[in-house]
Amino acid sequence: MKLILYIGLIIAACHAHPRQERRFPDDFLFGTATAAYQIEGGYNVDGKTDNIWDHMTHTKPHVIKDMSNGDIAANSYYNYKRDVEMMRELGIDAYRFSFSWSRILPNPLAPYNVNQAGIDFYNNYINEMLKYNITPMATLYHWDLPQKLQDLGGFLNPLFPEWFEDYARVVYENFGDRVKLFITFNEPREICFEGYGSSTKAPILNVTDVGTYLCAKYLLLGHAKAYYAYVNDFKPTQQGQCGITISSNWFGPLTDSEEDQFAAELKRQAEWGLYADPIFSEEGGFPKELSDVVARKSLDMGYKESRMPEFTDEERQLIQGSADFFGVNHYTASLISATEYKTFYPVPSLYADIDVGIYRPPEWLDSASDWLKFAPNSVYNALTFLHNKYPNTEFYITENGWSNYPDAGLIDDDRSTYYRAALNSVLDALEAGVNIKGYMAWSLMDNFEWMEGYVERFGLYEVDFTSEAKTRTPRKSAFVYKEIVRSRVIDPDYEPENLTMWIDEGH
Ligand SMILES: *[C@@H]1O[C@H](CO)[C@@H](O)[C@H](O)[C@H]1NC(C)=O
Repeated sequence: MKLILYIGLIIAACHAHPRQERRFPDDFLFGTATAAYQIEGGYNVDGKTDNIWDHMTHTKPHVIKDMSNGDIAANSYYNYKRDVEMMRELGIDAYRFSFSWSRILPNPLAPYNVNQAGIDFYNNYINEMLKYNITPMATLYHWDLPQKLQDLGGFLNPLFPEWFEDYARVVYENFGDRVKLFITFNEPREICFEGYGSSTKAPILNVTDVGTYLCAKYLLLGHAKAYYAYVNDFKPTQQGQCGITISSNWFGPLTDSEEDQFAAELKRQAEWGLYADPIFSEEGGFPKELSDVVARKSLDMGYKESRMPEFTDEERQLIQGSADFFGVNHYTASLISATEYKTFYPVPSLYADIDVGIYRPPEWLDSASDWLKFAPNSVYNALTFLHNKYPNTEFYITENGWSNYPDAGLIDDDRSTYYRAALNSVLDALEAGVNIKGYMAWSLMDNFEWMEGYVERFGLYEVDFTSEAKTRTPRKSAFVYKEIVRSRVIDPDYEPENLTMWIDEGH
């Protein structure tokens, strides 16, 4: 009796002085993300053929900071059960991963010839997740184009949209009964600008004048064809959703001047509007101010027409509205100036076309990656901007995370601080009315960080790449994330008692 009274008093006290706890909704999907080439390994087994990262790292190893490659990586091709065990340890709701095109279709020009061993691998991975109620979110393309298609021009070949649609149909047919969240492309900017318009991602083509723009056109057409293949022929029975993931860091003006505001807008259009506007804007097509600048500079230089291609009306309408959700990969921010902080860019190129300066305050903390600084409120700034620009859009944050160096060890308080700040910023955006359905932390584990090899580490789990087993060990931030996922609340003072992992009963 006395005890009940006590409990009653405590409950009453709590109601009288509610703690100002901000909660994530119960149906908010918390997860982690990875990509095939960065974790799988098994690069030449069971029928898989080379992709552009296999080809580049084998023929030009010096372009990778530590001369490494993804031949083995975290060996998830063989360690997938351990990967799912880690998901269970974290208690996450969802897992974002990507399919390797050349593992599924060793000859991408013969899509009738499906590689059963590749299908089996992804079936095993997906079924292992579903066994424990973990929702798979699958990316069709995370940068690993079959080399054979690159030999034919890759994204610059007008046949690219058909090749991609053929592949997408194979994916939906084989996995769409269980996968309900599909993402066509991961980060068009990194595919087109970095891979074709400069030389910081495979296939390092460095076609600075037209590479970015031509790639954007055929990528968007491929996306739209794959989207409508899903909508028309699979969605009616499979009942899932299909979207695209675009890297959307925040770019604000350095000052309030009209020039800097315009410079920031041009920068946003060059970084993500080029890919997002054609799908999500009311007008469709490439962003206006950027198109105008590229057209003017092209004509001034003596080109007969703009270096940015046009869409036919039919193409524009096909692309417009071709997504059920907008996947946002968000990491950082920069301040943009019309006149100051400019650096050299090849002429002509996307960056010479927009001709703006970039400033990042020294007080923003550095990660191990030179492009990634800890920028306050950047999730909120980017997401509220996108929400206002593309009203009624449903968002997922499909990547967000922090890098440190290989010798940083397991006590990664900088990563926990970053995640807490970013997730508080997500809560701010939710409270401002942005429709964010989930959040995927990058990354579940350390992996092959593209041109940086194994020098930069993003994992909640550390991977010992020197060990045969590619042993995974949770970092401190894994416990911090686990507690946020469990409680749906960000407790700034939460400290794990020790770094011993466990699986919660019932998950
Ligand atoms: C890329 O091409 C530009 C010329 O358009 C040149 O200035 C630059 O050095 C090239 N970069 C690399 C890494 O080859």
